[in-house]
Parts: sequence; C-alpha cells; structure tokens
Amino acid sequence: MIKRTLPLIIGNWKATPQTKEDAVKFIKLLEKKIDSSKVKLPKKSYYLAVPEIFIPTLSPLAKHGFIGSQNIPGVKEGQETGATTVKQLVSGGAAFTIVAHSEVRRRGEEIEERSQKVAQALGLNLTTVLCFGEHTRDKEGKYLSELELDVKGTLEGIKRELFSNLIIAYEPVWAIGAAVPATAGECFEAVIAIRRALASLAGIDHAKKVHILYGGTVTKDSANSFLEEGGVNGLLLGRASQEVSSFFETITSSYKGK
Ligand code: PGA
Repeated sequence: MIKRTLPLIIGNWKATPQTKEDAVKFIKLLEKKIDSSKVKLPKKSYYLAVPEIFIPTLSPLAKHGFIGSQNIPGVKEGQETGATTVKQLVSGGAAFTIVAHSEVRRRGEEIEERSQKVAQALGLNLTTVLCFGEHTRDKEGKYLSELELDVKGTLEGIKRELFSNLIIAYEPVWAIGAAVPATAGECFEAVIAIRRALASLAGIDHAKKVHILYGGTVTKDSANSFLEEGGVNGLLLGRASQEVSSFFETITSSYKGK
C-alpha cells in the first residue's frame, strides 16, 4: 500500500509517448527538475499511469514518484490472448492502477468488469484510482443520482477494509480533452454526491479514507482552484502530464504553500 501525501497529483500518459527512449528521457528530466525544485515537495510527489509496456523500465527510474497502469486489461489468467492481469502488472512494477477511465468504458467495459477489476486490484494491495463521471448534465440534476448509483453499484461487493487503498477520480466526460474544464463549484457538488454514496455504502469511517480527485482539462493555472474550492484531495491530469514542463509546473503549483 502506498503511504499518501496530499495533494495527489496523478498523470495519465494515455497512448503517449511512442518510444521507450522518449519515456525514459521524460522521467529523467522530470526527476532532475524535482531534485532542483524551489518549491518544497514531499519525497514522492507524483504518480504517472503509463503504457503498461513501459512500466518495468520506468518504475526504477521514478525515485520521486510512483509508476502505475492505466487499466487492468485482463481479469482471468490462462488462455486469454492480449490480456495482462493485475498480478502481472504488479510483478512488472506497477505501484497503482487506474480503473474505469471513460476512454476504457467507451470500449465496452461494463459494471461487472469494473467491479471485478477493483476487487482484484485492491485484493492484491494495489492502490486503485477508480473513475466516475457523467457524460452530460441535465438541469434537474439527475446525473448526480446516476453518479451515486454507479459508485454504489461498482463498489457494493468490495470489502470495506479495502477502501483505505481506494482513490476515486471524478472525471466529467464532457470536460475531458475539452477546451473548458468544469468549474470548481461544479466539481464540488459532484464530490459531495460521491462522498454521500460512499458513506451510505460503507459508513463514514471507511468512506473518509477514500481520497477524491478531479480530472478533466486541468492545467497548472487551474490546479489550485480545484484543490482549494473543488473539495478534492488531488488531480488526475491527461494532457498536462504528457509534457515534462507542464507536468512539473502543475506539481509545483499544487504544492506551493502547502
Ligand atoms: P485531460 O484528460 O486532462 O487531457 O482533459 C483528463 C483525463 O482523461 O484523465
């Protein structure tokens, strides 16, 4: 289990970069920048979910961070071509995993599969970042009850004691890769709904152990407003984590004054 220092700044490289050499160059430069950072950073100051093929190469290089997986591609071991199981990811050096990112859901991941992935990852003590988020918002606020139902449905079979290793990312799909992010206020009301769902499912004590992140078009300039007014404990970054300077600057601006 990872000992967390807040805020949690988690990058998601998605299908970038295209070569191992570029991935190595990125981590080496990031580490160098962190070593000489003027802003005081904790010993481990970043998480990066990378293409799984790069995990074994990058994890020993990430002295100030954690390298993880963007998904658990396989839930069964054995005769399953092209599927990588959670045990294999851990054995390859993954320190955490994302589950149920909307770009994975879009490829047909159903709720049973999501639950199974979370159960397997948490069962193996792997810190798990589980994503939720509405596609669109309706004026009546139905999306909030749908969000709560999704949270409860995905987590109802999970042992409550494992919640301490769970992180939830609130990622409104309409704000991912968009020109404009959600506002901190929009984020706040969804986070309340997620907390309510967790509390009704597992009781306050277990629910409190779950950290919540915001993701969707966060930049170094908007990071602090989500952390300060959005009610979240960290950020899940896509594009801002795919370039060394913008990732480093988002990390430092999130920790500045903390
Ligand atoms: P974005 O991606 O920051 O590029 O919008 C967010 C995500 O998909 O996690």
